[in-house]
Amino acid sequence: MPSINRRLLPLLALAGLSLAGAAVGMASEPAGYDDRAPLSAVAQLGKRLFFDPSLSGGGQMSCATCHDPANHYAPANDRAVQFGGPHLDQPGIRAVPSLAYKMSTPSFSIGEESAADEAAEASPMTEASGVALANAPAAVAGSLTAQAVAKADAAVANLVPQGGMFWDGRVDSLEEQALQPMISPFEMANADAATVYAKLKKGYGKDISALFGDNVANDQDMTISEIGFALARYQIEELSFHPYTSKYDDYLRGKAVLTDAEARGLKLFDDANKGNCASCHLDKMTGDGQMPNFTDFEFEALGAPRNPAIPANADAHYYDTGICGPLRNDTYSAQQQNCGLFKTPTLRNVATRHVFFHNGVYRTLEDVTRFYVERDTNPEEIYPKDASGKALKYDDLPVQYQANIDVIDAPMNRKLGEAPALNDREIADVVAFLKTLTDGYDPAKDSVKAAN
Ligand code: HEC
Ligand code: HEC
Repeated sequence: MPSINRRLLPLLALAGLSLAGAAVGMASEPAGYDDRAPLSAVAQLGKRLFFDPSLSGGGQMSCATCHDPANHYAPANDRAVQFGGPHLDQPGIRAVPSLAYKMSTPSFSIGEESAADEAAEASPMTEASGVALANAPAAVAGSLTAQAVAKADAAVANLVPQGGMFWDGRVDSLEEQALQPMISPFEMANADAATVYAKLKKGYGKDISALFGDNVANDQDMTISEIGFALARYQIEELSFHPYTSKYDDYLRGKAVLTDAEARGLKLFDDANKGNCASCHLDKMTGDGQMPNFTDFEFEALGAPRNPAIPANADAHYYDTGICGPLRNDTYSAQQQNCGLFKTPTLRNVATRHVFFHNGVYRTLEDVTRFYVERDTNPEEIYPKDASGKALKYDDLPVQYQANIDVIDAPMNRKLGEAPALNDREIADVVAFLKTLTDGYDPAKDSVKAAN
């Protein structure tokens, strides 16, 4: 049955089929919004669904409410978590991720972290299209391998969770993901799948019949599956979900020059003894010319401080442990070594985000970068303190899981009292570099460049 097959098809295969052409086109000509191919009929249906508030329990909230196209599909406001539910008064428990650059996310798996894996991961479309990475120009493959090694060194033979949607990887693809916000009590808040189906039939019955056939339209599960497929097609076909039009993209294409501060920041971002950011947030073009997505899709426990702005955190016994729940409940969530781990997000458009990390605890890129380098050297700068003035390190993870926190990868491998891997000036440079990752770069308006 075609609908079932499509549901099982990994997203990256879809992306490989549909985007190989688009991506090649983008490399050779400026990625304007005008020359894009029109959306397929299924993607157009997905677009209507994406913006339709009548699909929510209260009739006031669509996907675009939280994933705002005007802000790279992340929230426009600066709340740590968004409010949903029928009356838009139910707080969420995690920061809303951007939906940009999700299409190459592989399915969730537990895999060996090796240089080869990591190089392949960085180029899932290459895998999907069957082109061996061995064909990649040696220089590019070499730098990728070096990046992977910078992290994998310490983690030889470690099995690491990777891929999947959401901060905890609990669903495998964009298609499977779509029902979740529609029935989540603090998002679109429909009572159940049957309610969603009734709304879809009423609003879109004719389109669903025309596109997928009456047997799909008359079946709840098949309809919801195809709706997920339509929403995924929209997120894949619509170029503004992955335009690759940042200054850094232009730099990689040889069309832009970084300022001194940006170039210093990039160097620190790459340097395995300084920021070492690129060991997780991959920043090199892959062998077949794919632009980097600034994530290796792997999960890590970083030990971000607890965020009192999340109402759920008022309960001292409540913890968000990522893969171990509260929102994920499967064999992986029962395994202690996965507790506290969250998916490495892309850093594309990160300067346009208002809150950072899964719990939205940080509000500036300076503070995020300082967290990485001072977490263990100067914990009193990062965490709240107890009555005696001692830092409450790793205060957002129960003690029994704190051993999962990454203290091996630079820059998080330093000890109390050592110098942080980056000083204030270097942090400022890294942030200057992060600001080159915002899409829609227009050289004529590059004030940083003009000021230099
Ligand atoms: C009330 C705000 C809200 C609404 C409305 C909403 N989302 Fe989300 N979305 C979130 C949050 C919060 C997360 C992260 C949740 C988590 O990790 O557990 C998320 C995550 C996602 C992800 C995974 C992204 C990633 O980085 O892995 C996708 C895809 C997504 N949403 C698509 C949609 C679609 C499609 C709709 C409409 C059907 C929608 N969302 C409606 C808040 C919202
Ligand atoms: C060991 C892997 C690893 C390294 C090294 C690393 N990161 Fe991250 N990064 C992550 C993970 C995992 C998260 C999500 C953590 C969470 O939400 O709890 C993250 C989140 C972020 C975010 C927040 C993005 C968002 O949308 O909320 C920023 C910004 C960021 N990293 C920048 C950096 C910088 C700058 C460096 C280098 C100084 C760096 N990272 C080094 C894995 C890494």
